[in-house]
Parts: sequence; structure tokens; C-alpha cells
Amino acid sequence: MMKESKIILDRDYQIGKVDERLFSSFIEHLGRSVYGGIYQPDCPYSDKKGFNTQVLRLVRDLKVSMVRYPGGNFVSGFNWEDGIGPKEKRPRRLELAWKSIETNQFGLHEFVDWAKEADVGVMMAVNLGTRGVDAARNLLEYCNHDGGTYYSELRKRNGSERPFGIKLWCLGNEMDGPWQIGHKTADEYGRLVNETAKVMKTVDPSVEVVACGSSNSDMPTFGSWESTVLSHAYDAIDYLSLHQYYRNDDDDPASFLSSSTTMDRFIGSVISTCDYVKTLKRTDKKIYLSFDEWNVWFHSNVQDKKIPDWSEAPALLEDIYDAEDALVVGTLLITLLRHVDRVKVACLAQLVNVIAPIMTEKDGKAWLQTIAYPFLHASLYGRGVSLMPVTKCETYGCSRYADVPYLDCAAVYHPEDGSVTVFAVNKSIDAPMELSLDLRSFGKYGITGHTVLDCADLHATNGPEKITVKPFEEKPDGSLKTVLRPASWNVLQLREHP
Ligand code: AHR
Repeated sequence: MMKESKIILDRDYQIGKVDERLFSSFIEHLGRSVYGGIYQPDCPYSDKKGFNTQVLRLVRDLKVSMVRYPGGNFVSGFNWEDGIGPKEKRPRRLELAWKSIETNQFGLHEFVDWAKEADVGVMMAVNLGTRGVDAARNLLEYCNHDGGTYYSELRKRNGSERPFGIKLWCLGNEMDGPWQIGHKTADEYGRLVNETAKVMKTVDPSVEVVACGSSNSDMPTFGSWESTVLSHAYDAIDYLSLHQYYRNDDDDPASFLSSSTTMDRFIGSVISTCDYVKTLKRTDKKIYLSFDEWNVWFHSNVQDKKIPDWSEAPALLEDIYDAEDALVVGTLLITLLRHVDRVKVACLAQLVNVIAPIMTEKDGKAWLQTIAYPFLHASLYGRGVSLMPVTKCETYGCSRYADVPYLDCAAVYHPEDGSVTVFAVNKSIDAPMELSLDLRSFGKYGITGHTVLDCADLHATNGPEKITVKPFEEKPDGSLKTVLRPASWNVLQLREHP
């Protein structure tokens, strides 16, 4: 049975301008993300610096805005000094977060060079697990100070005359998690964040800093962690982080497809908590959100248990994503677009090989997983002004929620040419959905483009030899009505009729 739905849009109902950092990603020294991923010196596709050029091309194609580096859990045991200077002098270390061997053949300068070639900005993380204020201020001086001081001159001797100018800094990673190296209580972390941010902003007042929120919304300390950290560091920080991975261990599509409701509530709760502390502080300052780890992650959990400890670049967290995962990723992107007034940064975690849209083979060949496509579309067409859609559609119940809308949608207005892009997911896995659009103050608009990712074969996957799940174009008739296939991700382009 055909489902019915309606979206009402008005030029004046605006959520806010989309920050281009919403289309960011993440590279961690974990598994084959760096070694065998972005850096593969011995493969036929590598350039003079050892960067895999197939990966570089795909990162540029995806228009990734910014990449968070070097972790993740890795950063909480990392000495940044290990990854600078002559490669032959860099230490091999036991990497405790993922029980691997870290060779340090790729470090800070290599990453900054790679980011330039990939045309992405850099979001850097400091170690607040085993280290603290001192290492953070030294790293910042090394990266951003012009010259004439110990660390800035060391950077120059290591080949970078000009400062890196890194503006956005994560103060540690998931410090609320007992698994984290140097895990802290909210009071301990809040005090440390306040002092670290204060010192870093003295070294370089132009930087912005992100404090760790909860590792996910199921953490027993979720809520109190945020309010305690903010009570210590509200004035010193700019963003609070959110992390969340979504899973479908029970092969329950209806519940898995309600993941956007989970994300939406998580964002809403963090906003409320920030604003509660704002009230207590009697301040006008707003804290913005950095959703700097989000994705689907569960496929590789069993296979990872078989990987021996202390290997170099082990194939960890290599989830092979299916069509259903792409659909969920689409709904999560829609949710982020609907919160652009507060969510300024979001990193699809991660970028290459590790729970990633881009995979590489041993010979360096790179290919796109199913989840790459909604990211690509949002990144290409999601920049502009996010509109507040009013929607009408049926809902369904599942084991997680009673009323999940079958339709998830976001709309972005592009003032430069007057066009509007609507991202829409039909979550019904067996029924098509008729969609009618009402564009009110826009005038005589019609659908001029309709890109579809048909995910009805929920468990279809891509691979190096064959890209099975990929988008195709429908022929729109120029009206404001269309049909969304069952289990589909849709990108509708709307323009004024000539
Ligand atoms: O992205 C994989 C891991 O997930 C990160 O290292 C950590 O921050 C999170 O728990």
C-alpha cells in the first residue's frame, strides 16, 4: 500500500546556515586507517610522499571539509613528539588503546601535508589522558607560533617554515569512558579542561576548543557529566562533543531505522544541558555542539576478537556496510542538518578502512562503501541555509519507540541560485511513499532533479570488484509530487519554473 506524505517549506522558516564543518570526518592511528589507508608508500598508487592517490581523489570527491586527527582513544596515550623529526629516529611504541604497534612513520607534518593535498581542514586533538596542560601548550606552540621560540623553531628545522594555523582543537577524547587511558571523573576533567583551554588560548587566542561530552547517550553519567564539566569550564570552551555509533545486532530494520530519533533526542538533551548551565552562569554565551564521532558500527565486532594483539596496522573495525546502513546514515545526516543552529561540527567516523566510507585493498585500489553516497550527496548539496520543514506522514512502532515517522527529511536553500535541495528517506521497507511538496513563499517551483539510492535489498553491499549499491537518476516531471521507493534515500532538486 502506497504511503502518503507532505513537506511544507517556506523561505522564511530557517533553522540556520549550515556550517561546512558538518561534513567532516576522522582519521585515527587505528587499524589500517593511516598505515595501509591514507599512507601506503609501497603501493602502485602512492605519490612521492607515500600518500595513496586513489584515496586522496575519493576524499576530494566526497568534499570532506575537515578531518579530526590523531584519535580517538589513540590520542589518550600519544606523545606527539614521537611523530616529528627524521623518520629513522622515531620510536616504535606499544599503542595501548588498540593493543597495536605504532611505528610513528606518519605523524604531524605528514598529516598536515596530506590534509593540504586532500583539500581538507584539520581538527587536532591533544592528549589529556596520560598528559596535560604542558604537552598541549607545547604542541600548540609547535603548530601555530610563527617563530623565535623553542617549539616553533623546531617545527622549522623539521621542514615547515610556516605555522600550520590549526584553529580547532579537541581537549582529549571520551574522558568519561572507563576504557579511556587516563579516564577521569567529570570534576577532574572539567578542571583540567578549564586550565588547558585557558593556557592554549593564551598561546594562540584565535583557537577554538572542544570539550568532551559523553561517549554516548547510554553512559550512566550522561547528563551529569556534561553539566559538571560545563560548570568548571563554560567560559573557557567553545564546543561540547557528542559521540554515538548506531547498531543493528538483532537484524531489526524497524528499530535500526529509528536511530535518527535516538540521535535527535541526544542532541536535544545536550542542548538543554548546555542551556541549563548557561542559566546558572547568568551568561549570554552559547555553547555549540561538535558531533565529532558518528556512524554505524557493529559488523566487525566478532571478527576483531580474532585479531592478535601487538600487530602493525591490523585490519580492525573493518565494517562492510550494507544498503540498510546507508539508509540509516542518510537519516543521521538529515538529523544533523535539522540541528545546524547548534551543531556546527560533525565528523563521520571514520574516513578510511576503519568504520569508513572509503576502503583500500592491499594493492592500494580504493572503493566506496554504501554509506559514502548519502555523505557525498549531503556534502555536495547540503551547504546553504537549512529550512524548517513541516511534515505530515504516517508513523510506526518498534521495539525502541512508539511513533517513528516513516519519512525523515531536511531541506537546504541555496540563496546563490534560489534552488532548494530536499533530502528524504522513506523508512518503510515494503511500501512506496507518495510525497507532495508545498513551497509557499518560494512561488512556482518544481522538482527538476531526483537522485535515488534504492536500499530495498537491505543487505546488499559494495566491494572492490563491484559497486552494487549506487545512486541513479529518476526523471522528474517538473511538478511538486513524486514517489519515494520503499527503503530509499532521495535527493530532490527544486527550482523555479522558467
Ligand atoms: O572511532 C573508533 C573509536 O570509537 C574511537 O577511537 C573512540 O573515540 C570511540 O570510542
